[in-house]
Amino acid sequence: MKLPVSWSVPAAAAVAAAMLLTSGSIAGAATKADVEAAAAPDIPVANVKAHLTQLQSIATANGGNRAHGRPGYKASLDYVKAKLDAAGFTTSIQQFTSSGRTGYNLIADWPGGDANQIVMAGSHLDSVSSGAGINDNGSGSAAVLETALAVSRAAYKPTKHLRFAWWGAEELGLVGSRYYVNNLSSTDRSKISGYLNFDMIGSPNPGYFVYDDDPAIEKTFKDYYAGLGVATEIETEGDGRSDHAPFKSAGVPVGGLFTGASRTKTAAQVTKWGGTAGQSFDRCYHSSCDTTSNINDTALDRNSDAVAYAVWELSE
Ligand code: TRP
Ligand code: CA
Ligand code: ZN
Repeated sequence: MKLPVSWSVPAAAAVAAAMLLTSGSIAGAATKADVEAAAAPDIPVANVKAHLTQLQSIATANGGNRAHGRPGYKASLDYVKAKLDAAGFTTSIQQFTSSGRTGYNLIADWPGGDANQIVMAGSHLDSVSSGAGINDNGSGSAAVLETALAVSRAAYKPTKHLRFAWWGAEELGLVGSRYYVNNLSSTDRSKISGYLNFDMIGSPNPGYFVYDDDPAIEKTFKDYYAGLGVATEIETEGDGRSDHAPFKSAGVPVGGLFTGASRTKTAAQVTKWGGTAGQSFDRCYHSSCDTTSNINDTALDRNSDAVAYAVWELSE
């Protein structure tokens, strides 16, 4: 879904100028590159869903899950890493130990941008052991992956440096993300201008929740949703229950999106968003039915586009 508000007056004027330039008349007007610099791409939800299909296959081939310390986790990481390597990212795997098993974070840097101003977007890649974890958290993992691939397709040259992350062992208590933050020097920590977290963004009976942490990041997501004419609410189901928490504790500005877990959707929320009142946002939360059937495509599409919008807006 493309954001209609991207057609602001200056952008439209610049497009008009660029069109005149094409016909060879105005010297010194905005170039085509200037026009394109501002606009985040529409993330194809079919591509995001194709990643979910692959994560489901990985779970199915590995005992039905992608949990920490199990083969389905490492296979998920290898899948994401191969896509990023082919797209020109500089990837690294960070190892840690939790519950006696090796865990892995995947970090992908997009070459270029100001190394003293880093915008990070991340999601946990592990599932619980009881299921494939397609909404929790294939959804965030696939949306962040497809946004990174869109950065590469656009040959985006942001002012700030972009870094994407896929965390291990979130389900064991934010283990991978905490390990990453704890292993940054205070200088490196201070270079992160923001961390955006995406955990459960395609819930089957979705709500549209925006984290209420850093005001500038929160506003970016709210602006995106205002452009769609979709209401949002502040995320309250699990403050501190995902990978933004270690960043927030370390003083990094954080934000993110969430479509709800085990809480019940109210009648008032159904009036705003549709769906089923008196039922959980995700009735398959942490269970074996968290499969590719457990995704609302509209929520996944809107939130994937919102990931790209925020990454572009906050890095240019
Ligand atoms: N992180 C939790 C999990 O993976 C899910 C969750 C609950 C959540 N509340 C949240 C995620 C609020 C983001 C925001 O089990
Ligand atoms: Ca889209
Ligand atoms: Zn979970």
